[in-house]
Amino acid sequence: MPKTLLTTDPELAADFIRRGEVVAFPTETVYGLGADLFNADAVAAIFAAKDRPADNPLIAHLSSVDQLPLVARSMPLSAVALLAAFAPGPLTVVVPKHPDVPLIASGGLDTIGVRIPRHPVAQALLAACGRPLAAPSANRSGRPSPTTWEAVQADLDGRIPCILQGEPTEHGLESTVIDVTGPIPMVLRSGAITLEQLQTILPATVLSPEVLAAQSAADGTSEVEPPAPPRSPGTKYRHYAPRARVVLIDHPSAALDDVSTAYIGLDAPDPGSQFGRLVICDDVEMYARSVFDFFRRSDAAGLALIYCQNVPPVGLGLALMDRLTRAAK
Ligand code: TXA
Ligand code: MG
Repeated sequence: MPKTLLTTDPELAADFIRRGEVVAFPTETVYGLGADLFNADAVAAIFAAKDRPADNPLIAHLSSVDQLPLVARSMPLSAVALLAAFAPGPLTVVVPKHPDVPLIASGGLDTIGVRIPRHPVAQALLAACGRPLAAPSANRSGRPSPTTWEAVQADLDGRIPCILQGEPTEHGLESTVIDVTGPIPMVLRSGAITLEQLQTILPATVLSPEVLAAQSAADGTSEVEPPAPPRSPGTKYRHYAPRARVVLIDHPSAALDDVSTAYIGLDAPDPGSQFGRLVICDDVEMYARSVFDFFRRSDAAGLALIYCQNVPPVGLGLALMDRLTRAAK
């Protein structure tokens, strides 16, 4: 494949989509790798570029709720209520799949995750294409999700024809995935929309066993492994991991500082510490926004060990601890 084209022009990027090719684009969570949802060959090219396991379903990205009838066989009332409250935004709602959506996009499932991104560049691309895009995060499978176009380029240069450039992403962690096809709304992946926010709309919402297990591991309340198989196929794969070893600590005083180690957290280490890379975050939002980029920069600097400070697994901290716990596995 010729060198990957970098552009800021959504119309140019849409030309690739129309030709059945894949394009990386910014969203408010992380960069996505998009293709025409209804073109099975184009969707297959997403899996190939990422080395993604075939049973891991993709999210359908829509420009507005008007496109829902194209991708959903039916819309549970709970899905309508959630989208009314949080769309456009960082929420993915799993609903029954329309038969026209190719099975390759849903990883063979009869459900499909739908998300209406808020990011203006994502919206411009969706408008230019005029149809839904299948899109996972634009990283090589297993790597941290990309929060900058440079991170997409580092993983996929020469493997995809086009990157639609934008600013570093706002949230830095992926959307919350909630399944409303069962009797109880269930969070399959924690993310930028918190459990507390979801419960203001659907008070019965619970965390899936896998998300709960990550929460209790972060809490130190339990070491139980989640029951297999997971409801969200993506959660069974190693994920979000830098090449460096990740170690979670409660306070920076527990870290061995030297030029080959890195630290990210809310508390500052002692002045004069010798970390090869150091980021002190003002709050959990900044920590979430910074962590994947921190992983990638630490790898690029050849660091061997990354210390991450634990945060309480509530609110956005639940999603952050989920990613940190998986990266540390
Ligand atoms: O913020 C995001 O969600 C980003 C941006 C690009 O929109 N996308 C993203 O996609 O993170 P991906 O493919 O990296 O992660 C999607 C997650 C996976 O864990 C997958 O297993 C789960 O959502 N998922 C998707 N469709 C599902 C379905 N029908 N049933 C259960 N889980 C599903
Ligand atoms: Mg991903």
